[in-house]
Amino acid sequence: MIIEPRTRGFICLTSHPVGCEQNVKDQIAYVQSKGKIEGAKKVLVIGASTGFGLASRITSAFGSDAATIGVFFDKPASEGRPASPGFYNTAAFEKEAHAAGLYAKSINADAFSNDVKKQVVDLIKEDLGQVDLVIYSLASPVRTHPETGKRYKSVLKPIGEVFSNKTVDFHTGNVSEISIKPAEGDDVANTVTVMGGEDWKMWMDALQAENLLSEGATTVAYSYIGPEVTKPVYRNGTIGAAKDDLEATAFKITEELKSIGAKAYVSVNKALVTQASSAIPVIPLYISLLFKVMKEKGIHEGCIEQIQRLYSERLFGGDLALDEKGRIRVDDWEMRKDVQAEISKLWEEATTENLSEIGDLEGYSNEFFKLFGFKVAGVDYDADVNELVEIPSIQ
Ligand code: NAD
Ligand code: NA
Repeated sequence: MIIEPRTRGFICLTSHPVGCEQNVKDQIAYVQSKGKIEGAKKVLVIGASTGFGLASRITSAFGSDAATIGVFFDKPASEGRPASPGFYNTAAFEKEAHAAGLYAKSINADAFSNDVKKQVVDLIKEDLGQVDLVIYSLASPVRTHPETGKRYKSVLKPIGEVFSNKTVDFHTGNVSEISIKPAEGDDVANTVTVMGGEDWKMWMDALQAENLLSEGATTVAYSYIGPEVTKPVYRNGTIGAAKDDLEATAFKITEELKSIGAKAYVSVNKALVTQASSAIPVIPLYISLLFKVMKEKGIHEGCIEQIQRLYSERLFGGDLALDEKGRIRVDDWEMRKDVQAEISKLWEEATTENLSEIGDLEGYSNEFFKLFGFKVAGVDYDADVNELVEIPSIQ
């Protein structure tokens, strides 16, 4: 079929298998161009099919020749209906990994469930014995709790009061004022249940119970802080409460794994265009200004650049450079004083009329479509493609 982008609001309903494959190949080529990383050799990535998790899997495999197991939750294609991008990404990743002689197996199911943890435990026992790195990169709006069966929803809301600020519709470039109502009822607790640290710890407990973590193993989960302008809706909002919980969980895990000298870290990453961040009001305007400023300064990074730097300079580079709260910071360039000062100034000035000048609206939009395999250089979008791609390790 010939596949075109079909968007509804901030989601894209279609994705392009060849474009996704090209994205994966480009990320692999980037990692290879940066040289070998003396890193972990057996790696479990939870949330491995898109964004930072995919970049982590690629960096482990093609930077350190690691065997990888990836867990994610994606939709396969059906006749005439493309798969979700993570499905195509993983199909492409496995194809490349296997061609390079690397072990790569994938599980496409709900990582929050006990069943999937058991499946992964069995797979590690059978194939790898132990793992030495676990990347936790889930981003989900919902979680069914494995013990109660109750389904929780996370929300993106400020806490305490209404938050009003500017935002942009990145499809039209329209800058407008938006107000977001504060959390109510169980919003905060529910968001913490979905995006906090409980599931990360459950994973580590399940692995440790079966002695599947090697001596001195590392686990890393990803977090975000961001600037003053997004604070009420992000870091001081419901999702920020979940990130506080995630960050606190790192210390609990490290404490619990003391006997094997394993360590849990949170890495604070840079703001990037993802499906989730496109749906948070205010953030797309911030990101379009951020991209403009960082590109001008020659310090722009995408997921793969972020994770390659995380691995080569922090995790396996001999200096974690932890902040005062014990976190790894690869948002260091985003948070630089000169970068933030320029964004603050541009923020005041931004209007519908000038945003395409002072912000990188086009870059934002291109990145959004790239998430789904569209607008990728070198791909012929007029060509008939097979949407029914399979992930080799999943039968
Ligand atoms: P993403 O949406 O690109 O990736 C999420 C992954 O989780 C996908 O592989 C998806 O399949 C998987 N997933 C979702 N629900 C699942 C489930 N129930 N079972 C199994 N797999 C499931 O997200 P991302 O932007 O890469 O975010 C990953 C982490 O990085 C999050 O913790 C996020 O908060 C953090 N982070 C994001 C940004 C940003 O700007 N996007 C910045 C800093 C940190
Ligand atoms: Na991810």
